[in-house]
This record gives sequence, structure tokens and C-alpha cells, in this order.
Amino acid sequence: MEKADLVVKGAKELLTLGKTDRNVRPTGPRRGREMSELGIVEDGALAVRDGKIVFVGKTQELKMGGKEEINASGRVVLPGFIDSHTHLIFAGSREKEFERRLLGESYQEIAEGGGGILSTVKATRDASRESLFELGRNRLDEMLQWGTTTVEVKSGYGLRTEDEIKILEVIQELNRKHSIDLVPTFLGGHEVPIEYRGNKEGYIRKIEEEMLPQISKMNLASFCDVFCEEGVFDYEESRRILKKGKEYGLKPKIHADELSSSGGADLAGELGAISADHLTYPSEKGLEGMRRNGTIAVLLPGTSLFLRSETHAPARRMIEMGIPVALATDFNPGSSPILFMPIIFGLASLLMRMTPAEVITAGTINGAYAVGKGERVGSLEVGKDADFLILNIDHYRQLPYWFGQNLVEKVVKKGKVVWNRSRV
Ligand code: NIG
Ligand code: FE
Repeated sequence: MEKADLVVKGAKELLTLGKTDRNVRPTGPRRGREMSELGIVEDGALAVRDGKIVFVGKTQELKMGGKEEINASGRVVLPGFIDSHTHLIFAGSREKEFERRLLGESYQEIAEGGGGILSTVKATRDASRESLFELGRNRLDEMLQWGTTTVEVKSGYGLRTEDEIKILEVIQELNRKHSIDLVPTFLGGHEVPIEYRGNKEGYIRKIEEEMLPQISKMNLASFCDVFCEEGVFDYEESRRILKKGKEYGLKPKIHADELSSSGGADLAGELGAISADHLTYPSEKGLEGMRRNGTIAVLLPGTSLFLRSETHAPARRMIEMGIPVALATDFNPGSSPILFMPIIFGLASLLMRMTPAEVITAGTINGAYAVGKGERVGSLEVGKDADFLILNIDHYRQLPYWFGQNLVEKVVKKGKVVWNRSRV
């Protein structure tokens, strides 16, 4: 038989995230009990040719050799992490606000005073394309070493047509040049920029009549997102922006119910959004709508921790209801400076009582569906991209348990070893 390009053998646990324990292959994101079923192969092997998986199973059943072979004995092998919600591209930082919040001011109070998102908008407008590219590349390098192989990235710190395009073009260039795959989202509806204060209507029109048509024509985004929140864009305004985005071929995503109950989950259900993200304060009706429509809940416990919210998203309730749950970092300078998915996994367990198996499902296959790539990445199955990790642990439950440690030994992206801790 023809040799594979790469073969991995002898994994203590190979988490396929393919079939469930009842030997069924779910066709979409995993929900309910499926989120606990990792499709584990003990003494597992994997073979790769031309960047794709050509064999997954027991080591003794592997009939082909590889040009390169990795011995994974005593290790866990699993799909690369999918970070399905980030704001990777921005300049500057906001540590002074961090301190102000510790001393009692709220996120909203700081934003109303012209700080918050708008201060990052100023720094990002002033930054050159080259410096944003450099910042993005360094951040992606860090993420890769902690196992992220696909990342969704939002614009939203430009809030002017040329600056939103600048950010989306940086995302496009990073996607070409970095081994991590980037999925671009247009977030013109992140905040009302300073020059439109008092004229929100004018800004929404700008999004509808100028930004969306240009960005769609230039093919710069797959999704359209909006910050649906009291004092930012309300239900009706968010609905308008997302509906217009849909007309231009951008699928809706929503920053929903992050700081208060603002109808975001309801809107996600109504519009058939691919995901509703945050959901710290969702309404029962909103959750019901999400369940009915199969909307994925992208939960961001790093953010509710960093904002010192009095509660966290009701993950257990969502899983019990059958809403598919994904996890992401929300990396951004205001509410989550966290780059690493394994940190989020630990927080999801500790703050939201998600089990180790659930956090792994949420950070792999469900994240993949949340960025529209569920049929290509997120699980280890024949025909899918060979994006996987070798972890220096012998049981998957250790992943959220060794909280704060980087357990990633090797990262393989499209069949190539792109990060190797031991550098052998
Ligand atoms: O997801 N909520 C809106 N966007 C970010 C925060 C952005 C910022 O503070 O710069 C979030 O929390
Ligand atoms: Fe966000």
C-alpha cells in the first residue's frame, strides 16, 4: 500500500470526536449527551496524505507506513482547537481601565466616558497595516503553541469604512501567511464611533449602504456580527444590521446578553443565526428559540471572569436543553486578554461546571460548526483536514484539570508539524 506522508501510532487515547458511544455519527454540532462522547480509540493511530486524514483507528489495524512517523505512546491525540470568537486585530492596550474597574467603575461607565471600545478604535485607526499584521502574527504564534489551529477573527475596531477594510485585509493576509486558518467576521456594529455620537441612525446607514456592500464585494468576511446591548445597538438596530448583512451573504452572529438581558438570544433564534455568543444573561424564551433553530451558544467564560460578572452563562442548562455549546477566548483588550483555549477550558469547568469531555467537544467540533467549518475540521475522521495535537498527558480529563499549564507537545496543521515543543 502506498506510504502515508505522516503516521502517528500508539496514542494512549485518540479522541476522534467522530462517532458517539452508540456508534452514530451526528451530522451537526454535538448537543446534550453527545457532548460527552469523544469517540475515544485506545492505542490509536492516524495516517495523513496530502494534508488529509486517510486512516483513523487502532494501531494494530494500521496497514501503511509513513514517510514520517510519530510515536504517541502515553499521549492524548485530539483535534486542533477551534477558537470561534476573537477580536485578534487591534492596537494598544487598556490596563488603566482594568485598574479603574477594580476600583469600582463598571465597563459601561468607562465606555460612556469615551473609553472602552472607542479608545481601542482610536489606537487601531492610527496604526499602520504593517504594525497590525505584526501584532496579529505574534498573537497567532502564541495561540498555535497552545493548540489553536483555526480562529475566527472580527473586525470592529475601525468603525470607518477604510479602517474596517484595513483590519479585514490584515486578517486576509494573515490567513494566507500563517499556518493557523482565520475565519473573518465583519463587526462594524461593535460601537457607535465618536464622529456619529448623537447620530446612531447615520452610522447604521453607513454600515448598510457603504460598509456591507463594499466588504461583501471584496469578499472580506464570512459572517456579520453586532454588539446587541443596552447603550450600544438595541434589538431592532441589531436586527437591521444583521438582516442587511444576510442580504449581502454574511451569516449572522451576535454578541448577545453579555452585560444584561438585551434580547440577543431571542434575536439569534429569530434570524437563524449560526451562533449567539456570551449569553451571560439570556432569557428563557431566547434559549428556547436557540434550541429550536439549532443556534450554537458560543460561551466565553474568560470574559465573564475578567469583567467580574456576578454570574456566568448557564452552560449546564443549555446542555440539558439540547443547545450545542462551543467555547472561545473572546481575545480582546477590554474584556478578555486571554489567548489560550486550554485556559478557557479550565474556566469553563470551574465557573460553569462543564465536564472535561464537554469542554473538549465545545473547543473542537462545536467550535468548527460555529465558524462554518464543521465538515472540514474539528474531528479526526477520514477525509478531514489533518489538524491535530499531541498532548503530554495520558488521559483527556487532565486537560482542564492541569489548569494554566501548556500541555501541547506537537501541533500538526494540514499534515505538517508546525509546532514541536521538544524540537526533535
Ligand atoms: O466581546 N462586547 C463587545 N466586544 C468585546 C469587548 C470589546 C472591548 O472592550 O474592546 C467583547 O466583550
Ligand atoms: Fe467579543
